[in-house]
Amino acid sequence: MKVSEIKVRDYRKNQYPVEDFIINRWSARAMSGENLPQEELLRLFEAARWAPSSGNFQEWYFLYAHRGTEQFDHFFSLLDIWNQEWCVRASVLLIVLSNRISPKGKEISTHAFDTGLAFENLALQGVAMGLVVHPMGGFDQERARAELHIPEAYTVHCMAAVGYPGEISDLSEYNQNREYPNQRKDLNETFQEGGFPPVSE
Ligand SMILES: Cc1cc2nc3c(=O)[nH]c(=O)nc-3n(C[C@H](O)[C@H](O)[C@H](O)COP(=O)(O)O)c2cc1C
Repeated sequence: MKVSEIKVRDYRKNQYPVEDFIINRWSARAMSGENLPQEELLRLFEAARWAPSSGNFQEWYFLYAHRGTEQFDHFFSLLDIWNQEWCVRASVLLIVLSNRISPKGKEISTHAFDTGLAFENLALQGVAMGLVVHPMGGFDQERARAELHIPEAYTVHCMAAVGYPGEISDLSEYNQNREYPNQRKDLNETFQEGGFPPVSE
């Protein structure tokens, strides 16, 4: 069965009505190994480009590599082995960075927040295009920085796999068993009107 045949709403129950593209974004692992044309990748980047950012600094910076290239093999080698297992069938690997320093040389405290917004735009565009977009913190950041000559002013956030949906049976048994959309905490666990209650003495 292809991962795109999964009916996300069979797994995810929203408490209030939201648009399908919000619920349908999930971090699948089953990918087909087809190449993603550069024009399609640029559509994802275009979506990221329109994210809001503090002072319109647009601190995000994405490095990318297409499968079948030396760069892809290099990016792939940075991944932890449990991510490599399913990323062999990724079309593109991304490394998400942000520039912490403004054009006037000041530290931008919101660089990570802004870059997260850009990544989510990219991921949601991926949903609209029927693609798998899966962020990964499991990789060797120090090697990425050194071997890709990432300047000190840039923070390395995460990698991500982009690909076309593939067969769930191509995954390891472990990953097959967790290849479904997950749930979320109850709204009242993470949203609070007003402040935290005062700490009693
Ligand atoms: C910064 C970040 C790092 C992550 N690292 C990994 C990873 O190394 N490997 C992996 O399989 N998933 C990784 N994930 C995916 C999360 O497990 C996933 O987003 C989370 O369980 C919520 O599920 P959903 O994205 O399917 O909604 C990461 C997600 C984020 C945002």
